[in-house]
Amino acid sequence: MAASLRVIVVLVCVTAGAALADAAAGGVRVGLTRIHSEPGVTASQFVRDALRRDMHRRARFGRELASSSSSSSPAGTVSAPTRKDLPNGGEYIMTLAIGTPPQSYPAIADTGSDLVWTQCAPCGERCFKQPSPLYNPSSSPTFRVLPCSSALNLCAAEARLAGATPPPGCACRYNQTYGTGWTSGLQGSETFTFGSSPADQVRVPGIAFGCSNASSDDWNGSAGLVGLGRGGLSLVSQLAAGMFSYCLTPFQDTKSKSTLLLGPAAAAAALNGTGVRSTPFVPSPSKPPMSTYYYLNLTGISVGAAALPIPPGAFALRADGTGGLIIDSGTTITSLVDAAYKRVRAAVRSLVKLPVTDGSNATGLDLCFALPSSSAPPATLPSMTLHFGGGADMVLPVENYMILDGGMWCLAMRSQTDGELSTLGNYQQQNLHILYDVQKETLSFAPAKCSTL
Ligand SMILES: *[C@@H]1O[C@H](CO)[C@@H](O)[C@H](O)[C@H]1NC(C)=O
Ligand SMILES: *[C@@H]1O[C@H](CO)[C@@H](O)[C@H](O)[C@H]1NC(C)=O
Ligand SMILES: *[C@@H]1O[C@H](CO)[C@@H](O)[C@H](O)[C@H]1NC(C)=O
Ligand SMILES: *[C@@H]1O[C@H](CO)[C@@H](O)[C@H](O)[C@H]1NC(C)=O
Ligand SMILES: *[C@@H]1O[C@H](CO)[C@@H](O)[C@H](O)[C@H]1NC(C)=O
Ligand SMILES: *[C@@H]1O[C@H](CO)[C@@H](O)[C@H](O)[C@H]1NC(C)=O
Repeated sequence: MAASLRVIVVLVCVTAGAALADAAAGGVRVGLTRIHSEPGVTASQFVRDALRRDMHRRARFGRELASSSSSSSPAGTVSAPTRKDLPNGGEYIMTLAIGTPPQSYPAIADTGSDLVWTQCAPCGERCFKQPSPLYNPSSSPTFRVLPCSSALNLCAAEARLAGATPPPGCACRYNQTYGTGWTSGLQGSETFTFGSSPADQVRVPGIAFGCSNASSDDWNGSAGLVGLGRGGLSLVSQLAAGMFSYCLTPFQDTKSKSTLLLGPAAAAAALNGTGVRSTPFVPSPSKPPMSTYYYLNLTGISVGAAALPIPPGAFALRADGTGGLIIDSGTTITSLVDAAYKRVRAAVRSLVKLPVTDGSNATGLDLCFALPSSSAPPATLPSMTLHFGGGADMVLPVENYMILDGGMWCLAMRSQTDGELSTLGNYQQQNLHILYDVQKETLSFAPAKCSTL
């Protein structure tokens, strides 16, 4: 992509005297890989691993949400919990670089949270083992502790809200908790470098980030996370990118690279072609963490030509942020409110003429069929259509809703039995080019062959 150079204004002035960035006018292109894109991992192992970890994450969701509403932060600490089923195993990883000189590291791309963070030296035994060298702020001249004047300084903001005095120097320690896992450290600002090839590399100073010196070990295969949510701390907001898109290569394809585009290039690529559908985002409740999420208006589901008898209002968003459906790059398997999941399950159950087998121990999924032989291709099924507001139909071919695992063929969806939120996971987003236009408040999508993008 030929990209002339221009300026992307960092949305808020995070560091006094931060130089404006040289940035590509068209935007930034980043490759996304899978954690398990390693030689020696078979597709089946990969699937099991991802499902097992996704299940593990989901198990903690209810508790996290409950504890977040009653959290009382110790002085000087900000807990910014997100509800999220945090990635692991089924996640997509982007490579970016931090500091001067730029040091690259892999990070999970997550539309369900905001904070951009990486591990910082020194952090002793509370650091998890990461695949790249540890970033050391004291050897980077562009590192700053995030100043009080920054609108993104969580401690200063919290103090202002409470009418209290911000902590001295506003050095702000956070502890960000996720559906599974947490990370804690000091809020800083740094120069980041984006772009997958030297030709379209972009350096942006003054990005607020989390310099973590203690984390749980839920982040295997990465060195942190890049939040792409709606909040001010997310990379999309800080770059004032206005939009971003991604195109995720198939789950079992552990070789190809997926693509993430930030800025206008995202629209140019995602809207280029036929079959593009757009649906408005449903406004998020203003309270964190719900204000982070991208809610969609799911009005119904069809399997083949048959519209499923899902009760009206099954996906209605309640004032407290529960009840709706969000789209998330950091969750693997879609979860649906039970009233909807039951109908989907029944439809698939009646269409597949194979013996049902209990695959729940191996996969965490509750509808699995035994294949006559593990190498046999499964029977074909009609596509499943998710109907979104404004007539935007998202057509999921069978490989986007059924998953092959050894001798089993399972429905790659689950029931959201804790009743909080339904989540459109990344397994269902394979081979779709998906554009989040945060200026126009719309999500657009079109079928694509993501490995060739
Ligand atoms: C992280 O940094 C803080 C502030 O400097 C310090 O109090 C804490 O002990 C450090 N934690 C670890 C695990 O190094
Ligand atoms: C951060 O919060 C999590 C979840 O509440 C907790 O388990 C962890 O110990 C906290 N970490 C630090 C360094 O306080
Ligand atoms: C991450 O890796 C560590 C060490 O290999 C392991 O103990 C831990 O269970 C892994 N965590 C997850 C969530 O897979
Ligand atoms: C749009 O599609 C055409 C034809 O496939 C392709 O040649 C062109 O590079 C695409 N443009 C962008 C911006 O992706
Ligand atoms: C699943 O695991 C439980 C507990 O380990 C065991 O009792 C049960 O028999 C297993 N079910 C199948 C179908 O393997
Ligand atoms: C969802 O979409 C339907 C059909 O397009 C529309 O009637 C309804 O008002 C929308 N609901 C929300 C919350 O946007």
